[in-house]
Amino acid sequence: MKTAIYPGSFDPVTLGHLDIIKRSARLVDHLIVGVLNNNTKTPLFSVDERVNMLEDVTKDLDNVEILSFSGLLVDFAKEHNVQAIIRGLRAVTDFEYELAMSQTNRVANPDVDTIFLNTSLKYAYLSSSMVKEMAMYGGDISKFVPEQIIDRVYQKYGIAVRNNK
Ligand code: PNS
Repeated sequence: MKTAIYPGSFDPVTLGHLDIIKRSARLVDHLIVGVLNNNTKTPLFSVDERVNMLEDVTKDLDNVEILSFSGLLVDFAKEHNVQAIIRGLRAVTDFEYELAMSQTNRVANPDVDTIFLNTSLKYAYLSSSMVKEMAMYGGDISKFVPEQIIDRVYQKYGIAVRNNK
């Protein structure tokens, strides 16, 4: 059984993340979406909220499991007998950081390879940070995040009603 992990902060999950999840789920038997719970980052959403949002948007994908993790990704991967780490590459600007991370992870655990999926062109510009910035000022985020997530993001900024329903 081939298991891969797609790790990230998912603060919040975007349509770009969901696209990578759906495509990865077709490549492996079991896909774990690993939600980072490290104390050094101060996310907008708690880890439970991020897990919950991911569960909502992947409920129709039978081989996808959402788990949170703390500490090193390679340890989490070993614990779950994972053969591959999946990361999305949006643009060349992602490449240097992603390459360094994959090489570090491979030195730490040579049994786990990193597979890069190119982000679909329509999501190539998208990031959770951009979504938060747009939402903070009441901008329309409906083209950036799954439908189920939109109001939860606005609520974090005290914006109860969507601008462009
Ligand atoms: O969505 P992100 O924030 O780009 O995801 C980054 C993530 C979670 C994949 C990375 O920060 C990570 O794996 N953190 C866990 C700690 C770890 O293993 N660090 C060593 C990697 S060099």
